[in-house]
Amino acid sequence: MTKSEKYVSIIPQIRSVISGETDMIANMANVAAILHEEFDFWWTGFYRVEQGTLVLGPFQGPVACTRIAKGRGVCGTAWQRQETVVVEDVEQFKGHIACSSESRSEIVVPMLKSGEVIGVLDIDSRELSCFDSTDQCYLQQIVELLCSADLRKK
Ligand code: SME
Repeated sequence: MTKSEKYVSIIPQIRSVISGETDMIANMANVAAILHEEFDFWWTGFYRVEQGTLVLGPFQGPVACTRIAKGRGVCGTAWQRQETVVVEDVEQFKGHIACSSESRSEIVVPMLKSGEVIGVLDIDSRELSCFDSTDQCYLQQIVELLCSADLRKK
């Protein structure tokens, strides 16, 4: 299967597991599991904005740092810019936070709700240049699905 076919195949599964469930942590946990299993990424997970900082949420993969400030690392940069950041080579990204020395490339997609970032989806690969505009397009769709299932008032 191509990368696009893989994403197309998991989107109905994601819709199904989050439908009727409004708890964001439960939904993040299942989405991380589905993505991680399908693509065999190195690290797949979420950080949530809590009291002005990113705090580690549900993830699959090795132990990760628990808090990231706005503007710091790839995650904090995606939060600050309110846009997806694709890093082909983490060694070339100034300020990259290395939770694992195995990670070589990374994508971070912000979760936007009413114009505000409520968290980020972060995925790491052990291969250089693992992520491109195809990943960006589908992961943004997945994040939108997640945000629309979140019925908290903000
Ligand atoms: N590399 C990230 C930190 C989080 S871990 O990759 C799980 C960053 O630079 O923000």
